[in-house]
Amino acid sequence: MRKILVTAALPYANGPIHIGHLVEYLQADIWTRFQRLQGHECVYICADDTHGTPIMINARKQGITPEELIGKSKEEHLKDFNDFHVAFDHFDSTHSEENKMFSEEIYSHMKEKGHIEVRSIEQAFCVHDDMFLPDRFVKGECPKCGAKDQYGDACEICSTTYSALELKSPYCTICQNTPTAKNSDHIFFQLNHFKDFLNTWVKEHNQPEVYNKLKEWLENDLKDWDISRDKPYFGFEIPGFKDKYFYVWVDAPIGYISSTYNWAKKNNKNFEEYWKSEETELYHFIGKDIVYFHSLFWPAMLFNAGFRTPNKVFVHGFLKVNGEKMSKSRGTFLMARTYLNHLDPMYLRYYYASKLTAQVEDIDLNFEDFAAKINSELVGKISNLASRGAQMLSKKIDGRIGTLDEEGLKLVREAQEKGDEISKYYEERSFSKVIQAIREIADEANRYFDEKQPWKLIKEDSEETRKVLTTTLNLFRTIAIYLKPILPTYALNVEKLLNENEYRWEDSKKLLENHKIGEFSHLAQRIQLEQFEKMIEEQKQNG
Ligand code: 2FM
Ligand code: ZN
Repeated sequence: MRKILVTAALPYANGPIHIGHLVEYLQADIWTRFQRLQGHECVYICADDTHGTPIMINARKQGITPEELIGKSKEEHLKDFNDFHVAFDHFDSTHSEENKMFSEEIYSHMKEKGHIEVRSIEQAFCVHDDMFLPDRFVKGECPKCGAKDQYGDACEICSTTYSALELKSPYCTICQNTPTAKNSDHIFFQLNHFKDFLNTWVKEHNQPEVYNKLKEWLENDLKDWDISRDKPYFGFEIPGFKDKYFYVWVDAPIGYISSTYNWAKKNNKNFEEYWKSEETELYHFIGKDIVYFHSLFWPAMLFNAGFRTPNKVFVHGFLKVNGEKMSKSRGTFLMARTYLNHLDPMYLRYYYASKLTAQVEDIDLNFEDFAAKINSELVGKISNLASRGAQMLSKKIDGRIGTLDEEGLKLVREAQEKGDEISKYYEERSFSKVIQAIREIADEANRYFDEKQPWKLIKEDSEETRKVLTTTLNLFRTIAIYLKPILPTYALNVEKLLNENEYRWEDSKKLLENHKIGEFSHLAQRIQLEQFEKMIEEQKQNG
């Protein structure tokens, strides 16, 4: 049995879960469910990412405390994940005593081992709000092209990057006043001290295309990382300093550790086996925008503090909707909740799986393609095997699966032999290939069913018909087990339909013979494009 620890990136507590987030939570959920189905111990950990200026300001705007805001957010996030059948073993918060403790521990190692430097830097400061302004809280004219209303880090029109102090006619986005420039001491982590370690580390622990990008970064000296923020800030105060806080990106990944710690405590597990020793495999699922944090800062922090580093960082691409970036005005910035108000979560799980590969590729959610795939594959090819096979067996015969004849056995064995190939695809996160292989088995089953014409045969020979349905339902059953990591609730309904115990992966190697099946109920329904139109409409209304 392997012992595996999986994390997905921690969602910010200041906004709802949207369908872009779900690419990752579902990808990791499918992978962890697959591992558990194989009989491995696989722990799936996550938490809300709760600190930083945006959360503080957002709470202020709503007239509540940041603690109240993150509390509400956690409830909503958990409900969304639960309704999408994302089975975390533990979902925590970075605003916890334990996370503070680990953040201080990791920082003390940075300091004691001589990787910290304090120096004064100049930043945009709002006198009215009495605070330093993060780049996203200053706007003004681009110093290069003059475009108006550009953020303090980069121009969206000409792509020039600059510092907030270089903006022309800058203003604070909170109070609209003009910021001034002010100095203060900041604490820096000297990442370049870890260059040799990282040069070796990044090669082994990243996908090839990600490694190439990392290599580029490592060609130059790595810049010191500013890990402090001045008050007011919602976060953890840095030991030894007054009014200075850890930058949110310091304690966010440490949330992986503290969340595991709290999970271990609750479940009587030995925390050390997960973060202090290599006996557990550790994988982080992340999006391509946060590679620098996870494959440079993070391994350096861990290594320096005597924690184990991840076996692999698994990076995925972004989600597009109908070929374009998700957009609020087009209503395609779809919240998880809005989707759920219109469609069954299993359809999105199936659709994402059919698109996901092991590469860092963007995936496109195209409404027409989505509807076509669900209707023709999941309903038309796969579920139809059950509705035609099981209904006929129950209504026209006695609801008993018989024995397989030679032809049937051959077909079922062929489907079973695909199991190893399919598990290899799951293991390497090539879920689109999993779906492809399953579709092939379903095609074969449908071809067989249509050729045997049991709807005619039943009028002449019920025992021959039983054989045909026995083959069909065995093929369907094999498919349902292969699909279980992707469609857990669907597989559960198949277990009920076929009157069987909870499926494990090995069950796909067994035959189902001389067995009374359960009552039939529909497993999946056709969807209409209109459902997407209504979804988009609702999203536009909700902004
Ligand atoms: O990019 C984000 O949404 C961050 N909240 C991810 C944090 S991942 C980890 F480092 F905590
Ligand atoms: Zn201001």
